[in-house]
Amino acid sequence: MKVFFVGAGPGDAELITVKGARLLQEADVVVFAGSLVDRELVRTYAPDAEVYDSAGMNLDETTAVLANGVAADKRVVRLHTGDPSIYGAIQEQMAALDELGIDYEVVPGVTSAFAAAAALKQELTLPEVSQTVIITRMAGKTPVPERESLAEIARIGATLVIYLSVSMIGEVVDELLRGAYTPETPVAVAARVTWPDEQLLEGTLSDIAAKVKGAGIGKQAVILVGDVLRARQEGLKAKSLLYDKGFSHGYRKGIVA
Ligand SMILES: C[S@@+](CC[C@H](N)C(=O)[O-])C[C@H]1O[C@@H](n2cnc3c(N)ncnc32)[C@H](O)[C@@H]1O
Repeated sequence: MKVFFVGAGPGDAELITVKGARLLQEADVVVFAGSLVDRELVRTYAPDAEVYDSAGMNLDETTAVLANGVAADKRVVRLHTGDPSIYGAIQEQMAALDELGIDYEVVPGVTSAFAAAAALKQELTLPEVSQTVIITRMAGKTPVPERESLAEIARIGATLVIYLSVSMIGEVVDELLRGAYTPETPVAVAARVTWPDEQLLEGTLSDIAAKVKGAGIGKQAVILVGDVLRARQEGLKAKSLLYDKGFSHGYRKGIVA
């Protein structure tokens, strides 16, 4: 028996992977991040499991539930929102299981950055605009290394997806303006993406803070920043070569005019 760390996806119960859903259906014990994962999703896939909400538990307590489940030969799932590897605090949980000699596996999920891009119908990597996506956050209770401050990262001018920071939208804007972005740089804020009360806001660095405050968005949102966001209104600067008629690759011969 081992513990399965499973990504639940951003909210919509259909956005969990097939493997994650199967593991939940088979689970005897589920520990889930109740502040972000829908209890309904847990009920749907694991109606008969013993269910623990980790929101009110500390690391020792969650580890004890996981370890006791494995010791009792039960099938144990630790369910995380989005993808477990992004701000999921799974490393410390895996280290605690290592100390106890308990095996585990990680099943990925759809992180909110990609759910937000899908909701906006937006590619994050566009030729001649940006080929780099950076997932980051402002410092909160968890500090961010100085070299990764938003102002520092903003010097690159890549597409940014900023988690855990919408409550500090004013500071986010100030930091970004100290880098390669301008007041005209487009920004989107995607709140509770794929939930029934999803909100999508679009603006620029000059007006997004007022829009976020006006919409009353204070948490559970990602902030997307970068010139790729212009493409839907202003058109594409360039198309990728991947589907270009004249471009040959291993799976297709290009047409030579
Ligand atoms: C503790 S982190 C967990 C991230 C998660 N592991 C993931 O991959 O999406 C929580 C943050 O993720 C983002 N988030 C989680 N679910 C979201 C959703 N449905 N819509 C927008 N942002 C979300 C927000 O920035 C929130 O503050």
